[in-house]
Amino acid sequence: MTYSASVVGGSGFTGGELLRLIDGHPEFELAQATSRSKENKTIGNTHPNLRHSEMRFSDPAELESVDVLFAATPHGVSMEQIDEFQDAADTVVDLSADFRLDSEAQYDEWYDGHTRPELLADSEYALPELNRENLEGAELIASGGCNATATILGLLPLFEHGILSGDEQIVVDVKVGSSEGGAGGGEASSHPERSGVVRPYAPTGHRHEAEIQQFLGVDVSFTVHAVDMVRGASATCHVFPDGPVSKGDLWGAYRGQYEDEPFVELVSGGGGVYRYPEPKAVAGTNRAEVGFELDPGNKRLVVFSAIDNMMKGSAGQAVHAANIALGIEETAGLEFQGLHPVGAP
Ligand SMILES: NC(=O)c1ccc[n+]([C@@H]2O[C@H](COP(=O)([O-])OP(=O)(O)OC[C@H]3O[C@@H](n4cnc5c(N)ncnc54)[C@H](OP(=O)(O)O)[C@@H]3O)[C@@H](O)[C@H]2O)c1
Repeated sequence: MTYSASVVGGSGFTGGELLRLIDGHPEFELAQATSRSKENKTIGNTHPNLRHSEMRFSDPAELESVDVLFAATPHGVSMEQIDEFQDAADTVVDLSADFRLDSEAQYDEWYDGHTRPELLADSEYALPELNRENLEGAELIASGGCNATATILGLLPLFEHGILSGDEQIVVDVKVGSSEGGAGGGEASSHPERSGVVRPYAPTGHRHEAEIQQFLGVDVSFTVHAVDMVRGASATCHVFPDGPVSKGDLWGAYRGQYEDEPFVELVSGGGGVYRYPEPKAVAGTNRAEVGFELDPGNKRLVVFSAIDNMMKGSAGQAVHAANIALGIEETAGLEFQGLHPVGAP
């Protein structure tokens, strides 16, 4: 079966990844890609990896009817235009934060409020590893944030398998690439300013804390660094369990959680150069790598998680969720591997 798909915000970074994924998807056919600033230009003009496409960007005010609409627009756009999106498509997958949180109060606390709070109860959060059963047939899907995705995937097995109760201290440090800021980027992401940095850009109070809190049910102390890579989010979680934890407990928890997951791989010690999760190894793919190490002397457990922010952290996750919502094979269009060796992602 073929499903028509559109991308609102197709000229942006995650929009470009969605267009690449739709292009290679066995059951999706691109019907429309919008951009106000690039209207009538070919999508290859903006995304050189898609030069073979004859599709041209069109005006988001003139949406075509499709089976699935992906909204890859800045925060605030989807909540304003959700009626138009839902008129155009039975399944809407939003990559922004507009429908991720449960309540208006959370938007008041973490964002600048919400204009359509009555719809928050209708949306399903897409970390398929967390919420797969609720995505089947979902009509409004909120694709998870990239830093939150990396963090939740790293910590989830510890809660699901009783290693943590929720009372322990957890400190999370995420390093992210410049594409996280979008194609607009801004001064801080311009090449001369970004090159070579390891810059704490959200030492405290990052908005993704709210997502982590909501879906893991715990508070985490969260810091994000901007580092010199284009793609990737690498989360290092320092965890201080109350009781003793063995390597066997950890392997049991992580294998139990992820052995049937098509897009999560355990990478923990072993041989070779890449012994722990590494964004470079998953660049361009929908895969997440998750691993851990024990530090018994300090009663600490350290968990690592690496994703490509524009794939498992956004466009890939959005397509994965759409596959589930539409009843397509979950992995359709997402099964390819990354490159090795490769330069900085
Ligand atoms: N970058 C990441 O790693 C990442 C990861 C997870 C989630 N996200 C979320 O995904 C969304 C897109 O991020 P991005 O990095 O792809 O952003 P981006 O590169 O800045 O692209 C934004 C896109 O939205 C369009 N747009 C802007 N305002 C619009 C409006 N009012 N109506 C319709 N289209 C509009 C832009 O094109 P025109 O202005 O030409 O119309 C552009 O195509 C954001 O909400 C972001 O938070 C991003």
